[in-house]
Amino acid sequence: MHALDPLNDIEIAQAANCLHEQGGLSNTAWFETIALQEPLKEELKTNTSRREAFVCCYDPASGQTWDGVVELATNKLKNWRHAVGMQARIGIDEFIMGGDVAKADPRFIAACALRGVTDMSKVLVESWAAGNFGYKQEEGERIAYCHCWVQNESGDNPYERNLANLHPVVDLRRMKVIRVDDFGVVPLPPEGTPIKGKNTRKDLKPLEITQPEGASFTVEGKLVKWQNWEFRVGFHVRDGLILHEIGYRDKGKLRPIMYRASMAEMVVPYGDPRGGNYRRNAFDTGEYGIGQLLDSLALGCDCVGDIFYFDAWRHDWHGKPQHIKNAICMHEEDFGTLWKFTNTYDYDVTVKRSRRLVVSSVATIGNYVYGFFWYFYQDGTIGTEVKATGIPFGTAHPLGKPSQYGGAIAHGVEASVHQHVFSYRFDMAVDGPRNSVSEMNFAAEPMSETNPHGNAIAISETPLRSELEAQRNMDLNAARYWKVKNTESLNAYGEPVSYKLVPGINAVPLLHPDAPVAKRAGFMFKHFWATAFAADELYPAGQYPNQHAGGDGLPRWTKADRSLEQKDVVVWYTLNYHHMSRPEDWPVQPCVYAGFHWMPSGFFDENPAMDVPSPTPKHCC
Ligand code: CO
Repeated sequence: MHALDPLNDIEIAQAANCLHEQGGLSNTAWFETIALQEPLKEELKTNTSRREAFVCCYDPASGQTWDGVVELATNKLKNWRHAVGMQARIGIDEFIMGGDVAKADPRFIAACALRGVTDMSKVLVESWAAGNFGYKQEEGERIAYCHCWVQNESGDNPYERNLANLHPVVDLRRMKVIRVDDFGVVPLPPEGTPIKGKNTRKDLKPLEITQPEGASFTVEGKLVKWQNWEFRVGFHVRDGLILHEIGYRDKGKLRPIMYRASMAEMVVPYGDPRGGNYRRNAFDTGEYGIGQLLDSLALGCDCVGDIFYFDAWRHDWHGKPQHIKNAICMHEEDFGTLWKFTNTYDYDVTVKRSRRLVVSSVATIGNYVYGFFWYFYQDGTIGTEVKATGIPFGTAHPLGKPSQYGGAIAHGVEASVHQHVFSYRFDMAVDGPRNSVSEMNFAAEPMSETNPHGNAIAISETPLRSELEAQRNMDLNAARYWKVKNTESLNAYGEPVSYKLVPGINAVPLLHPDAPVAKRAGFMFKHFWATAFAADELYPAGQYPNQHAGGDGLPRWTKADRSLEQKDVVVWYTLNYHHMSRPEDWPVQPCVYAGFHWMPSGFFDENPAMDVPSPTPKHCC
């Protein structure tokens, strides 16, 4: 096994055992995380086989969160510490148990009856992370703030009918209901539409994707090689899919681009202040764990064509390994035209088709489903995209009266305006470990003697020399983008080789900067951040965002204002998908897409895809 390979079942079980023997916790303690502790970069240069497990436990007996590292070769527990004041993520088992506890509470049952709901087997209660709103009685306690629904008649949608204004508050440490918040009865939405069993359309002819000679990539362990690209596929119960050691083979030499790429955190703040709805702020990565929630993908359904699957190992709260078959999908896709030239004077046509390599995984987090897609293109571009689907979080409202904070999406149902904010982390290595960062801006030059016709566009490149300088937002007026470059590696034209980050759809956070969720997710107030590498800076809202008071992660680290000039640079990009749900998002939302790209910008001396062969004539007109 390679030092960057995710833990397997045997290693997870061993780490759990080691904790039971050496951790000194009570027998009710449970495991938040057992995942690969990645080796330090320097270590990896000389030792590619070291295996360590990062372990985090929550002990209800003490109410404490503990973390440390198990050295698997020696079965030794190292750096075992009480993470003072921190709350572990909410485990899946805990999430389900919290809901069950609430469902059995007589106060909750009575509140359901007030709303005409007496069949409790049809009720779903989800124990969401409570956030941190400065309430004294929640301080230091492990709290879930629940949201509730009634199953639809056809039994295929647990999220159709929201029990609005009703929120059991659960003490997860003691597994008991503290109180039931009831902000007043709102009529339950009427039975709506089933998800399944509709008459399906009949005019679709088969569309087969075949690769008679197989796919063009090779896989050795977790190492992937495709069209000059090389990288390693990784997995973590928190981050989900991780890509390591991304490089491109150019003129026979493997040139590094990124040491590690991941979707490191996400938060979905909802914009409805009424009742208990202000508590809806899901940090799906830091509060629950995207990797824990990956789907097993199905060939021919989730993925079509010549598919290669990577399986993954997660664990339950007892530390027992659980297999995720087909957790990560990899395949090639035709992507239209790569490049084309028609010589007007002799009608000679050259056209090349683009093919991209897609590496993806899909996480189901309650009502929502997120697909995380990574794309590698033959021209050196790296793309990443989120596909959001699933069922919008509908709030019941009195018929005909949606509030000012949402829109009607079905009879009696409104969806609150909200934002899906993702933070991607890129540990850069553009042609080597020492990189610098700059910002590109463009402006119309004033009319002058040298610009008599007013057409001049001024190009300005501003170095972002330190962490406080490298906290930036998009600017359409300046066609702004950012570059990561290596001043020690020059291209054929004497310029430092570089990759540029090309934003796509985005928005700014629309909530008050003093809002508790804004303080806990300070990363979302800048689209672009760059930091000096530190091995323990993996998550932009900090290691333990669950119920955290705020200020951790990027805002805290960057106060040091570390230098970014010819340093090991990490880039963080915030992707904000502003979402006002539509009736067309109901009962299940068609995928909405949001993404961005990294493009080579003087990294190569010319279009690196000139050598892609033209399509074979039998398929070409
Ligand atoms: Co949404």
